[in-house]
Amino acid sequence: MPPEGGPERIVLVGFMGSGKSTVGRVLARRLSWGFVDMDERIEERTGRTIAALFKERGEAAFRAEELQAARELMATPRRVLATGGGAFAEPQTRGVLRDGAYTVYLQGSFEALSARVPDDGSRPLAADREIMRRLLQEREPFYRTADLTLDATEAPEVLAGRIVAAAFPEVGAAR
Ligand code: S3P
Repeated sequence: MPPEGGPERIVLVGFMGSGKSTVGRVLARRLSWGFVDMDERIEERTGRTIAALFKERGEAAFRAEELQAARELMATPRRVLATGGGAFAEPQTRGVLRDGAYTVYLQGSFEALSARVPDDGSRPLAADREIMRRLLQEREPFYRTADLTLDATEAPEVLAGRIVAAAFPEVGAAR
């Protein structure tokens, strides 16, 4: 259950290709809240693309940046946050996000999600589809600990409506 009066933040979690950023933007507009894409925030902070960060400093450094970004972002209310696909699989980052926000998992099958992820090098962990398949399997149990699970293949507007109704059960219909 969301806290009485509704949550102060909503965090979207799920695998690459699940539409976290697209749905997050629609949701933020509907709530008149701010929207932050965690990967974009990390790129701004480090002055590097995610691909360059992985290459130059390694995945562990990227995960440390993610944790720091999650902590910072939990300090400001009325925000929708789209996480990177691995953030919620990291115990510390997951704890920070779960403590500070209403969390929503956008769930989809490997086939549906991988078809939406370009193999253009922008996502280092999407280059090998077998690794991707294994990652989704490993992460699924963590994603499932989110407060709400929705079908990622539904339209962004529909998903945003479902999130509002679940997070603000009393006022959902009015928003
Ligand atoms: C990652 C997903 C990416 C990005 C990075 C690592 C992952 O975010 O954070 O490439 O570990 O699954 P998206 O889920 O927005 O693609």
